[in-house]
Amino acid sequence: MRMYDIIKTKRDGGALTKEQIDFAVTGFTGGGIGEGQMAALAMAIWFNGMSERETAELTLAMARSGDSVDLSRFGTKTVDKHSTGGVGDKTSLVIMPIAASCGAVCAKMSGRGLGHTGGTADKLESIPGYKTELSTARFLEQAEKVGLVLATQSGNLTPADKKLYALRDMTATVDSLPLIASSIMSKKIASGAHSIVLDVKAGGGAFMKTADDARALARVMVDIGTRLGRKVRAVVTDMDTPLGTAVGNALEVREAVELLRGRGADDLKEVCFVLAENMLELSLGMGKDEAEKAVRDSVSSGRAYKKLCEWIAAQGGDLRCIDDVSLLPRAARVLEVKAEKSGFITAMDAEKIGRCAMSLGAGRLEKDMPIDFAAGIEMLKKTGEYISAGEPVARLYTNKNDAGNAEKLYLSALETADTPPEKRKIVIDIIE
Ligand code: URA
Repeated sequence: MRMYDIIKTKRDGGALTKEQIDFAVTGFTGGGIGEGQMAALAMAIWFNGMSERETAELTLAMARSGDSVDLSRFGTKTVDKHSTGGVGDKTSLVIMPIAASCGAVCAKMSGRGLGHTGGTADKLESIPGYKTELSTARFLEQAEKVGLVLATQSGNLTPADKKLYALRDMTATVDSLPLIASSIMSKKIASGAHSIVLDVKAGGGAFMKTADDARALARVMVDIGTRLGRKVRAVVTDMDTPLGTAVGNALEVREAVELLRGRGADDLKEVCFVLAENMLELSLGMGKDEAEKAVRDSVSSGRAYKKLCEWIAAQGGDLRCIDDVSLLPRAARVLEVKAEKSGFITAMDAEKIGRCAMSLGAGRLEKDMPIDFAAGIEMLKKTGEYISAGEPVARLYTNKNDAGNAEKLYLSALETADTPPEKRKIVIDIIE
């Protein structure tokens, strides 16, 4: 078999066999196939796409390129969740304790934030003492004892995806549906959970800018997972406006804790509850009504909050900061952003708000850059609300002496009008 022929087949619109896909992925991961040829194949896929069968086979080849987590001892109770990334998305911190308190096993690998979107591992590390790096033995032991563990990806999980993603980043081939779907799903398959709930974000702050594009990505990922023997469901949710009221690591932990104590913003609660319900339906075989009731009861009874505390303590986090969230890292400076004109907020540009949080120190532009856990934004007014000129609309938290044009950037993200906007659906679709 020659890589040349594989590239030519895809360039000419043909379909690749499983053997050809395995050959390309194994060769590229091992170094026998160079970046030039792999980049040519990625570009041919970008132009000509892949069938569902080819996409599933690419996913499996990447999932098998390195280590995988064996969760088979937990039977079918394991459930993972993945978000395609957004601004203010702290749903994992809420839904994993809910699902685990109802009997599901959540053993999750999570990434760090990059660019304007955040990562769950960073948010958790804003809790003093919380360890995100665990050995496989510790990871499994905690899953067994607590039913809930979240760690950063082990060194050798899906090395093929790591290498290919970096190459796609350099060769303008990231935005290809089969390449995105196989990249995400390869990590989920290697992470071992029997059920997977995907939160596919749609809107200005997301990878997929329209609901139809998000639905298309969701369908491909659900198809891949199902072909590979997993139970998968995708919830398409709005990411035109940041989720909830906080953006930034410690601020988001605080918001998640408050939601589990029975408070919290309606949009965040709606997304979290729908995701958690779907997790319970898939992993524990609950019906829709039963799952809905279980989720609500777990929060109102305090069981989900208790599970959160058990989880954080098991990973070394200082529980005093959960009990009293004012002990979480706090920024030295708080800047109040005041509305320049009166009107109803009709839109909040999630990407701009994410960039604003990053400029305050809450995010990183490049991999491995340090971040400031205390930095971020508290949104005091959201889409649909009326604001009067001079009224505070947000608080910006930073440890930087010079926050640059962060206030201006925040204000530029808001659009206002004399009449209120139509209410947008936050949960757009569920793809089974
Ligand atoms: N996230 C991933 O993990 N992979 C992609 O290709 C795009 C987003």
